[in-house]
Amino acid sequence: MDTTADGELAGELLGLVQALRGRLMRHAALGTWAAPGLPTARWVPPAVELPAAAPVIDVVRDDTDEAVVIPLGRRTLAQVREELGACTRCKLHATRNHIVFGVGADDAPLMFIGEAPGENEDRRGEPFVGAAGELLDKMIVAMGWTRSSVYIANVLKCRPPGNRNPQPDEVAQCTPFLDAQIRAIAPRIIVTLGRPAANHVLGKDAPISALRGKFHDRHGVRVMPTFHPAYLLRDPDRKRDTWADLKQVMAELERLGIKPPGPR
Ligand code: URA
Repeated sequence: MDTTADGELAGELLGLVQALRGRLMRHAALGTWAAPGLPTARWVPPAVELPAAAPVIDVVRDDTDEAVVIPLGRRTLAQVREELGACTRCKLHATRNHIVFGVGADDAPLMFIGEAPGENEDRRGEPFVGAAGELLDKMIVAMGWTRSSVYIANVLKCRPPGNRNPQPDEVAQCTPFLDAQIRAIAPRIIVTLGRPAANHVLGKDAPISALRGKFHDRHGVRVMPTFHPAYLLRDPDRKRDTWADLKQVMAELERLGIKPPGPR
């Protein structure tokens, strides 16, 4: 018997099993089992009841040995909200009136993600309730959905003073909670509104014009970046492009067998 060849084969198999295990652990932790590039899948591991003190995220190493931040399990939306608490993780807590967690159905197949609450949202504690929100509502209704049958959230949960751009430390503290919301809801399709949301969700740094109009993959979930409604209020000529993006979303939902609740 050629024991050297057997040993090499055993070593190779062990390496393959370890690599596969790493990949599966990563997908399990992210709450998705779809292979990137394949049609959106919705099998998600059941949300687990974890001790209240258990953190939403942890840093682990996967088989590629890069340090990656992954969740320690999938939570319900209520658990994510509870862990966020009366958040003081970044300086925005000092100037906010309300945390703007998100609104909609906690199992929505369609999720919209914007940048950060503005003045109206900060006052009401609900995302997209100002002029841009009214336009977003119209877009959602035109697609055959409603504010309560989709889910709407932002990259940041607190208003940056004067609506300035989010700063890196604020994004770093806040986005694990958005990521946990996405895992809890397990939407089939995510529509990102504007550049910051698209770049955060897709892990890119590109202008919205380069990203919009086509589906991207986020751990097996389809993502359609499009223009922010506040931008559409300033440049209504872009509404046509936005509607083309949303029509692609409607067609993809139909292809997945997901019917909107209202008439189109
Ligand atoms: N703009 C956003 O990106 N989010 C809101 O909630 C309101 C305005």
